[in-house]
Amino acid sequence: MNSYDKSVSTKKSTNTGTIVALCRLAMSLYSSWTQFFPPRDGAPLKEVNLPSQVGKVFIVTGGSSGLGYELSRILYGAGGKVYILTRTKKNAEEAIARIQAHYPEEQGKETGSLEFIHMDLEDFNTVKSAAREFLSREGPDGRLDVLFNNAGTGSLKDASPSRQGHEYHFTTNSLGGYVLARLLTPILTKTAQQSPKDSVRVIWPTSLLVEAISPKGGVRKEFIEDEFSVKNSDELYASSKAANWFLASEFSRRQSESGPFGSGVVHIAGNPGNYTTGIWRHVEGRLIHHFFKLVLRDPVHGAETYLWMAFSEEITLEEAKAGRYVICDGRWHPGQRKDLLLALKGEDEGGSGRAKEYFEWCEVRAKEFVDLE
Ligand SMILES: NC(=O)c1ccc[n+]([C@@H]2O[C@H](COP(=O)([O-])OP(=O)(O)OC[C@H]3O[C@@H](n4cnc5c(N)ncnc54)[C@H](OP(=O)(O)O)[C@@H]3O)[C@@H](O)[C@H]2O)c1
Repeated sequence: MNSYDKSVSTKKSTNTGTIVALCRLAMSLYSSWTQFFPPRDGAPLKEVNLPSQVGKVFIVTGGSSGLGYELSRILYGAGGKVYILTRTKKNAEEAIARIQAHYPEEQGKETGSLEFIHMDLEDFNTVKSAAREFLSREGPDGRLDVLFNNAGTGSLKDASPSRQGHEYHFTTNSLGGYVLARLLTPILTKTAQQSPKDSVRVIWPTSLLVEAISPKGGVRKEFIEDEFSVKNSDELYASSKAANWFLASEFSRRQSESGPFGSGVVHIAGNPGNYTTGIWRHVEGRLIHHFFKLVLRDPVHGAETYLWMAFSEEITLEEAKAGRYVICDGRWHPGQRKDLLLALKGEDEGGSGRAKEYFEWCEVRAKEFVDLE
């Protein structure tokens, strides 16, 4: 190639690079915009058009407040059997009473049932006992149609490690949910065998902050090597939510007839949206809260996102395996960050393998504590 050809070819690739970068920027601006300001009344599934859930069984972790409360209310109102697994008994009992009062008997609606089981994700002893209690209440013919791993915490500075010595944000938002999902995998698989294809699911909430502030690759390699190496609580929150996407993708990819991670169970992740709930309690007064406060909506729309994740026929195991990611109020993400998409792929597939590494990290932590096959 002579020097003229070389300069033309360099200019061409610089132009292509600039166009790609501009397209990515436009996509990322559009993506943030549509998650801050989703189409009004755009949710495909709401309380009014949700089919009857009579005969189905659900677990909503953190069902006493915010999104989990609205979701538990709607599922109960549709006739579902809802187990609320959460930390504070008083809050759960008050929530159950409020939900029941929302559907007075004289309305003649066929409501379901609501039961509280104590579980503090920061203590795996209680995750284990909650799973055991659920299985015993369901009995040998029991089922579990959807596990909503909804409970979560916001960014908390200088948080203490969990009871078993793990990083606080990751324990509440991701690792605790992993332990629960692993303990409930046999009943999820059994239910999947008796149910229409792709209808048994585990829901993993993420956040807009995954794409906004999580580190390159979603979860730092340093974190996997030493979970206390990352100090910034906002990053830990965002990263623990990226981690949920990794878990959904890896669980889905590992579904097999004989493996320990289940068969026929769809694990799906996504950002439920931005809402006025208790999740902001630790960041009140900080810039991030002032900024988000302007766009926070009623948490019922977060529950509507969950309804889409749990019941939409657009969601299949194939989509989940491909790492598809949901956004509020029940749509597919228009195009996630490239480094995050690469994290979902193994090194043999041209990716970074970070999702696989994180999943394996969780499996080791879980096995240190609970008996898993
Ligand atoms: N709100 C938003 O803008 C937003 C945005 C993106 C993602 N999300 C995600 O949506 C999910 C629900 O959050 P939310 O906004 O509804 O918050 P919320 O109102 O604070 O509700 C959180 C629920 O989780 C429970 N919980 C907290 N720590 C727990 C623990 N260690 N063990 C068991 N349960 C625990 C809480 O129980 P207590 O009654 O004991 O407090 C409460 O019921 C979270 O995963 C959150 O990250 C929310």
